[in-house]
Amino acid sequence: MTATQLSAPTTPVADNGRGSYWITTFGCQMNKADSERMAGILESMGYREAQAELEADLVLYNTCTIRDNAEQKVYSYLGRQAQRKRTNPNLTLVVAGCVAQQEGESLLRRVPELDLVMGPQHANRLDVLLAQVEQGQQVVATEEHHILEDITTARRDSTICGWVNVIYGCNERCTYCVVPSVRGREQSRLPEAIKLEMEGLAAQGFKEITLLGQNIDAYGRDLPGITPEGRRQHTLTDLLHHVHNVEGLERIRFATSHPRYFTERLIDACAELPKVCEHFHIPFQSGDDELLKAMARGYTVDRYRRIIERIRERMPDASISADVIVAFPGETDAQYRRTLDLIEEIGFDQVNTAAYSPRPNTPAADWPNQLSEEVKVERLREINAVVERVARERSARYSGRTEQVLVEGINPKDPEQVMGRTRTNRLTFFAGNGRWHAGDLVDVRIEEVRPFSLSGCAVG
Ligand code: SAH
Ligand code: SF4
Ligand code: F3S
Repeated sequence: MTATQLSAPTTPVADNGRGSYWITTFGCQMNKADSERMAGILESMGYREAQAELEADLVLYNTCTIRDNAEQKVYSYLGRQAQRKRTNPNLTLVVAGCVAQQEGESLLRRVPELDLVMGPQHANRLDVLLAQVEQGQQVVATEEHHILEDITTARRDSTICGWVNVIYGCNERCTYCVVPSVRGREQSRLPEAIKLEMEGLAAQGFKEITLLGQNIDAYGRDLPGITPEGRRQHTLTDLLHHVHNVEGLERIRFATSHPRYFTERLIDACAELPKVCEHFHIPFQSGDDELLKAMARGYTVDRYRRIIERIRERMPDASISADVIVAFPGETDAQYRRTLDLIEEIGFDQVNTAAYSPRPNTPAADWPNQLSEEVKVERLREINAVVERVARERSARYSGRTEQVLVEGINPKDPEQVMGRTRTNRLTFFAGNGRWHAGDLVDVRIEEVRPFSLSGCAVG
């Protein structure tokens, strides 16, 4: 019996012979957006979604290599599938994403059962690459590639909140980071293409769009054009103005911001454009100037402070989130404490923390002043406690307030409740399944606050 038969859903769907697919996505929103596009391509080729990973005819892992533990995860997943393939030679095994780009051919040596290894720039070419696989080849697609405008329709996980890529790649050279080497040079999409995609989503009923880029503030710097005032014609600020009037959309977000390029013009646009939400994800990485320099981040802690001050002048209730790295090579205890102090001083709503992990082809990985595993574990433990305490303090301000929540679906832990997010991106639960549906904007009085989520009841 083939896996196709095993995984046939109870209501038969058209199957034009390709069988079923399974995608597991690791890593950031960029990878999630790529996975949705690859799922769209597979469905347009005639694949249908499998019911379970171990029953699928095609398994695709969209991988992440930002830290070593992210990379290692995929090898254990692959081991299981490689074993399956030995008894089921018709299984197609694909590794996409950042590990694929980093390892290329050597992945085939490590896992000879693989059919296709494809870097992130090739996501839109999945059908072409699979056609080569069908001819019996083992395919590696990792060469630099100009990302063509997407002609396929993504198969999106949500029907309410969508991602739209605006810039691919990253031209920065942060000394710890593998992204530029796996995602390639910056490639901005044209404003018209971005707006068209957003209009299409709005017409399907999407209410919220998050514009995506690894360094979204770099948007447009690879596009030609200078304004009469001598400014670059294409910037993130101009893009926000350009797409703001898309009919039907209620909310616009963007990520990830880089403090080096974050401008006052951008802050003003966010304050003036009503659909742009008051939430800013601006990684600061370290609270110490010397470390920021060693990381090649291109700003000082003071500049970071001024950005946040300016945001709060214009949007006093804005929520601020960030990423931070502890135990970067050479980080002293005093330097690390400056990071803790900055978290308290700014009062972050959320901080993603990570211990430094040496990555291939990055300068910091070769430095001799690496810190021990014990220091990493201890600093991470301590900083997480600080992040949670500060987030709890920030959450307290919602208590008793009425917040607008965009409903995304049912609370999986309590089917009586629906869940959604505030404009400031706090996850919020409230009673009313059956009454409220995905896509509704509901005023919710907040009655219970936790560090990273809220509960309340609908008013009016
Ligand atoms: N483009 C974004 C972040 C991309 S990666 C930016 O510039 O901020 C997401 C986060 O992973 C980073 O913000 C950083 O905090 C973390 N990170 C990246 N490389 C890392 C490494 N080698 N070790 C630990 N954390 C890392
Ligand atoms: Fe990595 Fe720096 Fe680029 Fe962010 S800006 S993706 S941290 S190199
Ligand atoms: Fe990971 Fe690649 Fe994103 S390394 S964080 S999936 S860009």
